[in-house]
Amino acid sequence: MMQRAAIKNSRAQRVDDKMAADTGLVCLQDYEQHALSRLDKNALDYYRCGAGEEDSLQLNRTCFKRLRIRPRCLRDVSLLDLSTSVLGATVALPVGIAPTAMQSMAHSDGELASARAAEEAGAIFVLSTLSTSSIEEVASAAPNAVKWFQLYIYRDRELTRELVRRAEWAGYKALVLTVDAPVFGNRRCIARDHFQLPSHLRITQLPIVLKGVLTAEDAVKGADAGAAAILVSNHGGRQVDGAPAAIEALPEVARAVGDRVEVYMDGGVTQGTDVFKALALGARMVFIGRPALWGLAHSGKRGVCNVLSILRRELEITFQLTGCASVVDVSSKMVVHESSYYKL
Ligand code: FNR
Repeated sequence: MMQRAAIKNSRAQRVDDKMAADTGLVCLQDYEQHALSRLDKNALDYYRCGAGEEDSLQLNRTCFKRLRIRPRCLRDVSLLDLSTSVLGATVALPVGIAPTAMQSMAHSDGELASARAAEEAGAIFVLSTLSTSSIEEVASAAPNAVKWFQLYIYRDRELTRELVRRAEWAGYKALVLTVDAPVFGNRRCIARDHFQLPSHLRITQLPIVLKGVLTAEDAVKGADAGAAAILVSNHGGRQVDGAPAAIEALPEVARAVGDRVEVYMDGGVTQGTDVFKALALGARMVFIGRPALWGLAHSGKRGVCNVLSILRRELEITFQLTGCASVVDVSSKMVVHESSYYKL
């Protein structure tokens, strides 16, 4: 059994070695460093920054580091399967691309390149409302990708209806409603007592994913209001500085909604072990925002493919070294907070 895994490993390793030799970049931090040295200040400031003193931005990273993985041995990991199902669709790996605005500042192909990379990797692509390519252009660039469309709650209901209709016609499979954005002066709209899905969104048959939830209370309200999934996120630390890291908030949200709706997270994911930790703490899917932008800045579609491929490879190794053959083997007992060791 180890033999089969070893053969598969060595093949994947050869592909990754070639990619690393071609680019000189072996991990997501390398892509970030490359982007920091290449992007113009305007684009870099926009992509990199967080809100206020950037406490929440940094927490997204440091909180992952405070979690410990409890690896299991003596398990058969010869047949590895990273695929999962999300809102009824099967995807090749539990990592997707989060919606980020104005991707063509990173590369002239912008969202078209990111969507094509997601298509090639078998990952979900979420198109931002504030994109630099249209809904239809992205749909025809990556016809076979599982694509979701992100929406803000606009005051102009007709505009929103039109966007929803276009996304439906173009074959997008879900609407990601971002509820933590202050753009229209309603920063934490889902935290309000009487949250319900905006009536103009009930025109749609598409499942609704609520993005930007950080508390059990809001997650339950979202589920009660008919959302199909909750995406735990602090918007990459760009909204309320002082808000928890998404990985900190994930367990309470997952516990609160149980199996009623699917739960995802984004924020601070930079390596395969981060994905593993999020899966163990209740996420069905993990999304990356900035790392995809760094890949895009490097070499368009190829750079985003490389970023996804590095994450996939790191996740494969983590699965094998922790005794997990598929996502169902990743249990909550496999990840604990570092403080549990200090109690010994
Ligand atoms: C974002 N994010 C975001 N979210 C959203 O719902 N609509 C949007 O248009 C954008 N735009 C956007 C631009 C940039 C430059 C960044 C960095 C982020 C938030 C994004 O979807 C996601 O929540 C975070 O990026 C996740 O954190 P990481 O992976 O960047 O650490």
